[in-house]
Amino acid sequence: MLMDRARQDLPGLGANEAVHRVVSHNPDSFWAIARRENFSSRERRPEGFQAYLMLNHDGLRQLVAGTFKGTDPDTSLLASQHEKPAGIYIWCTHAWGALSGGMSLTLQKISTPIYRDVDVYSCASTPEGKYTLEGLGFTCGCTYDGAVSETVYKYTRSQPEAASRPLYDNYVADEAAASSVTVARTMEELSRVFSVRSAVYMAEQRCPYGEEFDGNDFSATHLLGYAGQEPAACLRIRYFAGFAKLERLAVRKEFRGHKLAQQMIRAGIEMCRMKGYTRIYGQSEQSLVEWYGQFGFRVPNEARELSFSEFGFVEIVLDVTAHPDAVSIESDPYVIIRPEGRWHTPGILEKSAARDVTRPGAVRQA
Ligand SMILES: CC(C)(COP(=O)(O)OP(=O)(O)OC[C@H]1O[C@@H](n2cnc3c(N)ncnc32)[C@H](O)[C@@H]1OP(=O)(O)O)[C@@H](O)C(=O)NCCC(=O)NCCS
Repeated sequence: MLMDRARQDLPGLGANEAVHRVVSHNPDSFWAIARRENFSSRERRPEGFQAYLMLNHDGLRQLVAGTFKGTDPDTSLLASQHEKPAGIYIWCTHAWGALSGGMSLTLQKISTPIYRDVDVYSCASTPEGKYTLEGLGFTCGCTYDGAVSETVYKYTRSQPEAASRPLYDNYVADEAAASSVTVARTMEELSRVFSVRSAVYMAEQRCPYGEEFDGNDFSATHLLGYAGQEPAACLRIRYFAGFAKLERLAVRKEFRGHKLAQQMIRAGIEMCRMKGYTRIYGQSEQSLVEWYGQFGFRVPNEARELSFSEFGFVEIVLDVTAHPDAVSIESDPYVIIRPEGRWHTPGILEKSAARDVTRPGAVRQA
């Protein structure tokens, strides 16, 4: 009934028999939508629908290569109900007006553990479809396993392979990784950083509070290191014209000796290179000068010694080349406004750019 009704608006739809075949292969493929006020569990009367194709590897390849037959899909190209698909294709949506709110509810159905990190694909056959997809954050054009499409839309939900993530942004919540690093971007993450510093510097090294929390924490980037899912390390970076300074490196006592500090310093250096810095400065505790040497830090001839919080330090510097993709004033303006340390992936503001510019009008009306 839903298909027959949709066919009035979308005459090219496949046969009902094909839909039945897909749904019996994978019942997660078809979601009927009804307005709450019209819905009764005794007498179910759906008014619109959202249909997905759970594509397996071959199916997704064919979709991107343009050889997939969407009106009559071959079920050998589809994942079955408890199998993780390679991609989820928005097969057809028919949900006019208020019913379109049901689309986001069906998106919850494809956010269960088996589906949540699977990328979603779609094609826009009407200008409304294109507008809707872009507003939802889909981007036009994609590649898969050597196949390239300029017309298939993609919404990325998968995490890049661990090895291809930047050193300063390779932490993923709930992912099993021995150790990883992220930029602290929320108050919660900043609390984790402060907990590590409190444990190491105040509790262990007896540093007075006012010396540890020295008034520089809001003019810095904080890297947060994890051992598994446990906040275990941190590093603060502050920026000046011509150089960046790495400081406040700390690893909780119970997580030492596993090269986490090494990972933090490498991440810090990479972060500075990405910001375009070529000179990195530090003040090393005397006993750690050799340890910093493994990253190329050296004690310059003019280095000065200093002491604070009852420890002796010496100046160290590292000269590096800027990262080839370093963010600069010539970078794409949307890249410049991406979240700190996430310059490699589209940010929320560029997704918002699909919405019309209406604010100046709103101000004028007021
Ligand atoms: C220094 C610190 C960050 C190292 O953390 P970590 O995760 O254990 O370090 P890694 O596993 O990457 O490296 C361990 C190496 O550093 C050496 N090392 C650690 N602390 C050292 C110290 N105070 N003096 C000399 N070497 C030290 C270890 O002997 C080890 O050497 P190895 O690889 O030859 O066995 C950690 O001990 C710490 O938080 N210390 C207290 C805070 C501090 O001193 N910060 C540095 C401020 S400049």
